[in-house]
Amino acid sequence: MAASRWRLAVRCDDLVDLGIGQPDDSLLPRELLGELAAAALAKSTSSRLQYAPEEGAESLREALADFLTLHYGRLVKADELVMTSGASHALDLVLAWYTRPGDAVAVEAPTYFLGLHVLRQRGVRLVPVPVDEHGIDADRLEEVLQRHHPRLLYLIPTFQNPTGMTLTSERRARVAALSAEYGCIVVADEVYQLTASPDRVPETMRAHAGGNVMSLGSFSKILAPGIRLGWIECAASCVQTLRKDGVLRSGGGVSPMTGIIIESALRNGVQEQLLSAFRAAYDRRRRHALDSLDRLLPVEISYRRPAGGYYVWLQLPSSLDMRAVHAEAARHGVGFRPGPLFSIDGSFEDCLRLCFAYYDEDRLAVGIGRLTDILRSRLSA
Ligand SMILES: Cc1ncc(COP(=O)(O)O)c(C=O)c1O
Repeated sequence: MAASRWRLAVRCDDLVDLGIGQPDDSLLPRELLGELAAAALAKSTSSRLQYAPEEGAESLREALADFLTLHYGRLVKADELVMTSGASHALDLVLAWYTRPGDAVAVEAPTYFLGLHVLRQRGVRLVPVPVDEHGIDADRLEEVLQRHHPRLLYLIPTFQNPTGMTLTSERRARVAALSAEYGCIVVADEVYQLTASPDRVPETMRAHAGGNVMSLGSFSKILAPGIRLGWIECAASCVQTLRKDGVLRSGGGVSPMTGIIIESALRNGVQEQLLSAFRAAYDRRRRHALDSLDRLLPVEISYRRPAGGYYVWLQLPSSLDMRAVHAEAARHGVGFRPGPLFSIDGSFEDCLRLCFAYYDEDRLAVGIGRLTDILRSRLSA
């Protein structure tokens, strides 16, 4: 009892914000990247510092294609890759070229909140499709395809943000087939695909391609968000469309210099080594967070165990007011992302997202301890 009172009295400048969805500084390989950058630039030619082709330097795309072929367990072709400034830019680029304002776009409910900002910025009409423990509900998707004829489906199939759920292989095949049948482009945001070893994740959505699946990937979760490099894997004909983009043309692709460094990391085993380190850290943190939640979370609060990724999604009983919990949590030094943030219509009032990837085990224990204390005391009030 005394310990729990003490935890509730912690000051806010000691905040553990379980809302933050990114790798923490201790995981970011600053020194290694410094050495790698110096060596890669020393070996490179000055012409590599010129404007690059719109879709990215061929040697970079070849190195990435080899890396993805190894990790995805299927052939990825360099001429089916466009380098982007991360997955966020990739989404915007696809929207710019494949949608018009007013077009219907189907999204998971709930979905990645900043993805919603990108979508809204392009003026598309968002249509929600529910997600359950196996990922997007394919029957409901079919209804939406029939009724709204969405131009595009924005989907996070692996370790979904925010629910942490992964679309089963069977549903992946159905989603791809349905989308092809109704002429809907699938934009699979697969930024968490590489955060777990291949034996723990289903195949990427493009394993089911017709030409209508575009896969977005990023170095943000496996190297560093500040690298600002990602990619779109899509049909070669789509690469030819996307490379007409005015910004890519005028700017000579995205960040050719970063591309030199990343190409070297892909070729000399550094990215491979970092991938193992990231996976091990994410896994330790996830197991620790789930063990703590199992022990400390009141039985009235339910959640599904994610098999990887960054997030766990909690559902509160109707007797708890999530907004009041959020305000109290902030006063007592713990943060989370409220459910409505991830919805297009303010729903998920009774849900919240925790991220377990940002803090080490000790800080996770502090944050989860504070939050579960608050939930327990409110439930018993
Ligand atoms: C589903 C999803 N897509 C995209 C991003 C952003 O990726 P990037 O840094 O490559 O723009 C995130 C980051 O949290 C994410 O969760």
